[in-house]
Amino acid sequence: MDVLVLGGTEFVSLHLVRALLRDGHRVTVLNRGRRPGRLPAGVRALVCDRLDHAALRTTLAGERVDALVDIAYAPTTGADVEATLGALEGRVGHALFVSTGRVHDHALPIPYHEDTPRSLYWGEYAKNKIAGEDVLLRRHRERGLPVTIVRPTHVYGPLNTRNNETFFFDRLVRGRPILVPGAGGWLRQFGHVEDLADAMARLLGAPAAFGQAYNVTGEEAITQVGFVELIADVVKRPLTLVHVATPPGGTPVAFGQNLAYDCHAVYTTTKLRAALGLRPRYTLAAGLAQTFEWYLREGLDRRVLDVAAEDALLR
Ligand SMILES: NC(=O)c1ccc[n+]([C@@H]2O[C@H](COP(=O)([O-])OP(=O)(O)OC[C@H]3O[C@@H](n4cnc5c(N)ncnc54)[C@H](OP(=O)(O)O)[C@@H]3O)[C@@H](O)[C@H]2O)c1
Repeated sequence: MDVLVLGGTEFVSLHLVRALLRDGHRVTVLNRGRRPGRLPAGVRALVCDRLDHAALRTTLAGERVDALVDIAYAPTTGADVEATLGALEGRVGHALFVSTGRVHDHALPIPYHEDTPRSLYWGEYAKNKIAGEDVLLRRHRERGLPVTIVRPTHVYGPLNTRNNETFFFDRLVRGRPILVPGAGGWLRQFGHVEDLADAMARLLGAPAAFGQAYNVTGEEAITQVGFVELIADVVKRPLTLVHVATPPGGTPVAFGQNLAYDCHAVYTTTKLRAALGLRPRYTLAAGLAQTFEWYLREGLDRRVLDVAAEDALLR
């Protein structure tokens, strides 16, 4: 298939490009061209800011694709998603939109399945993603465009641009204690980036997936403390946890880039398994071990760390 990926040079979108090439697809990417050196050989690049709708129309004027994967979040509103589909009007076989598990109403009891009501619990991000989903679903309903929505949660793995698992690697390789917001008992679900990329590659052009939304993440739910304990186990370093209470209305102690929160978030992934027989290749432990190898290979264990605020708290 000819596949157009919005993004292609950073994390999720770059892993998708690799998976598509592996599966024999022809890949074009569209991004602002800030990291051209990241692109694998054989990928065609279109340079454009997706938020500039006029430029997008010009850039995509001559394109016809079997599949479009809308990944780059700029932040991207419903109007931006609409503009992309409009710029390719009648020339897309299947449109796949990368949303988020955060569209589900997290005030409701876990687990969240694909039909759990959506809400603005997660603010502007949820609002933009819900609007993007609705643009696709409307085009599916009204014009018969084949569309699919994927909702990842806490994507991790090599090249991660979020400082989550690497936050803990940084401290454990230096023998530093890990500060935990409160009890650290909130449940979360992590998904390996290659499993997400594989799932998206398999969903493209699959009629069973047309008009559908899928939670795409790992199969293990784990508490915040459990996640750190697992990482310490994987990197084979001793672990010291220091629990720090959050004063009412205060900011929780830093815990990864976005792993401090005050609700559970657990998602069912049975729909994807039932539809496509797809299961993650990585357990959380195996994926973290592979990510730690990448972290060491890149020399990230030697990067400068600002721990002044943590030291002040510890004192
Ligand atoms: N990471 C998670 O845990 C997580 C969880 C749930 C959902 N998601 C969703 O997953 C998606 C992927 O996120 P990611 O962080 O891995 O990013 P990514 O898609 O791998 O990287 C961003 C890409 O988009 C391009 N880009 C950024 N702004 C652009 C713009 N205005 N116009 C055109 N291209 C632009 C960047 O290239 P240039 O800078 O050169 O333009 C880069 O290629 C996002 O939609 C995110 O909301 C992520």
